[in-house]
Amino acid sequence: VFSHVVRAPEDPILGVTVAYNKDPSPVKLNLGVGAYRTEEGKPLVLNVVRKAEQMLVNDRSRVKEYLPIVGLAEFNKLSAKLIFGADSPAIRENRVTTVQCLSGTGSLRVGAEFLARHYHQRSIYIPQPTWGNHPKIFTLSGLSVKTYRYYDPATRGLNFQGLLEDLGSAPSGSIVLLHACAHNPTGVDPTLEQWEQIRQLMRSKALLPFFDSAYQGFASGSLDADAMSVRMFVADGGECFVAQSYAKNMGLYGERVGALSVVCKTADVASKVESQLKLVIRPMFSNPPIHGASIVATILKDRNMYNEWTIELKAMADRIISMRQKLFDALRARGTPGDWSHIIKQIGMFTFTGLNSEQVAFMTREYHIYMTSDGRISMAGLSSKTVPHLADAIHAAVTG
Ligand code: LMR
Repeated sequence: VFSHVVRAPEDPILGVTVAYNKDPSPVKLNLGVGAYRTEEGKPLVLNVVRKAEQMLVNDRSRVKEYLPIVGLAEFNKLSAKLIFGADSPAIRENRVTTVQCLSGTGSLRVGAEFLARHYHQRSIYIPQPTWGNHPKIFTLSGLSVKTYRYYDPATRGLNFQGLLEDLGSAPSGSIVLLHACAHNPTGVDPTLEQWEQIRQLMRSKALLPFFDSAYQGFASGSLDADAMSVRMFVADGGECFVAQSYAKNMGLYGERVGALSVVCKTADVASKVESQLKLVIRPMFSNPPIHGASIVATILKDRNMYNEWTIELKAMADRIISMRQKLFDALRARGTPGDWSHIIKQIGMFTFTGLNSEQVAFMTREYHIYMTSDGRISMAGLSSKTVPHLADAIHAAVTG
């Protein structure tokens, strides 16, 4: 009965790892998925995460009971504090509801399902380009996906005018997806002044912000600086959705730990929203897993462990930034044609190189370098040892 089923294509991002794993070459390099690697090219489990796990294992009072539908209460509280700031009036006034979800994707999906059921506007504007999973998540949730201009290929920077025009002509009340920092895939973020203009425009048109915060601490190395965009929107007292992921900033990729926060106008509305979020979550995954959220809560609630985390996080962010400089220098040393300054200007895990899909295919074929076909490379997958190989490949792709 299933003989009519056609084979689906691999995922444009996770499928890159599938292809990489099949390649027997000893020089192969995976710069596809945004996952941090050490200078030795190995995945990293943070020391503070190991320590938290040890504490959890040693605590014999811990059991494996179901969490409530909304997840671990302590984790939710600490997650809201992390993104909105310890002194956030919205938290103090109990206007925020936070529910634990399955990392960024799960948080976006739960938020979008809620909006499709309870919000008067179905249109969500997403930046062009954006993370490949965004349009799928929102469409399958029942929202209608539209795009707004974001990236300017000519400058390899922000198309701010286009962004303002497109949001300016969006129907009042539309939902707008914003990347809190370290825009994926472009690495291009608005400045604080531009964020303020975006905020004013959106509030004047009652556009509803839905932030995807997958890289807090990864862009600048500072958890507070990377939450500024979100905090600006929350400070004005308006509504706001935020999906948080701990995949990158705590390296908890496979633990699937994240949170959805909805900032409301009053505490009463927030508690009603929470009651409806429970109705979204229960038939979707019933209640979230306990282990990853316990790790996060253990770290966030202990001052020393929190400080240790920020140091390890900064080290990851700094290593990525140093890879940007090394790759830029390597291309300059080779005299590779073109202006590569965007490599050092762009922010976060990714460089949007400007290489086209033929050049990417060439680099994979000839140099065993794996990346998404839109020319995005994960700087976090690069090391001092592999920079020359990548620079050789880019040089050959550009000059060949
Ligand atoms: C990425 O963009 O590479 C990451 O966010 C991983 C993913 O799930 O796509």
